[in-house]
Amino acid sequence: MHYPNCSADTLEREAAALARAANSPMCIFLHGDLGAGKTTFARAFIRAYFACSSLQVPSPTFTIVQTYSSKDCARDSFTHGAGGGNEAGAGDEPGAAPRELSVWHVDLYRVDCVEDVWALGLHEAIHEHICLIEWPNLLKEANIAGDIEVFLTVRTQEARDFVIHTTRA
Ligand SMILES: Nc1ncnc2c1ncn2[C@@H]1O[C@H](COP(=O)(O)OP(=O)(O)OP(=O)(O)O)[C@@H](O)[C@H]1O
Ligand SMILES: [Mg+2]
Repeated sequence: MHYPNCSADTLEREAAALARAANSPMCIFLHGDLGAGKTTFARAFIRAYFACSSLQVPSPTFTIVQTYSSKDCARDSFTHGAGGGNEAGAGDEPGAAPRELSVWHVDLYRVDCVEDVWALGLHEAIHEHICLIEWPNLLKEANIAGDIEVFLTVRTQEARDFVIHTTRA
């Protein structure tokens, strides 16, 4: 899907729509130059995923990884995914505790080599959680593809083009 000349509001709305349909595990690559809107996209996604609009989602530029859990929000039920397969508690025994949902928000801009990426535990996280990864080129070079790839291009100070490309069937 191609979204030309979008405001930040539109970008955030589409990120939230993607989050509401997301099923874990899922790996989302966020491509784009400095200031293109990768963190803005991820923030809107994470807030919508946890149905928690006040959740603090700082840029992971310096921490490299920020993790979020359904425990972080004062909400005890979540509904995600069109099929409901990722709904907290889905598939559990009646009365079982809701399954904890985790999101990793990662920025690889300051990471130099793929060994350092694995040292972060990202390989495991990709297979267990939802991962939103800014500057994912090291992973591309290691032949790891995102299930979804978002390409952001700055048009003007307030407008972005973006493309959402889904590779997962
Ligand atoms: N249409 C738009 N879409 C997204 N961000 C926009 C838009 N218009 C203006 N902005 C602003 O551009 C900035 C984008 O910053 P953001 O931190 O999301 O970029 P980034 O791609 O993560 O950069 P970095 O590579 O430094 O991590 C924000 O201040 C945001 O408010
Ligand atoms: Mg960023």
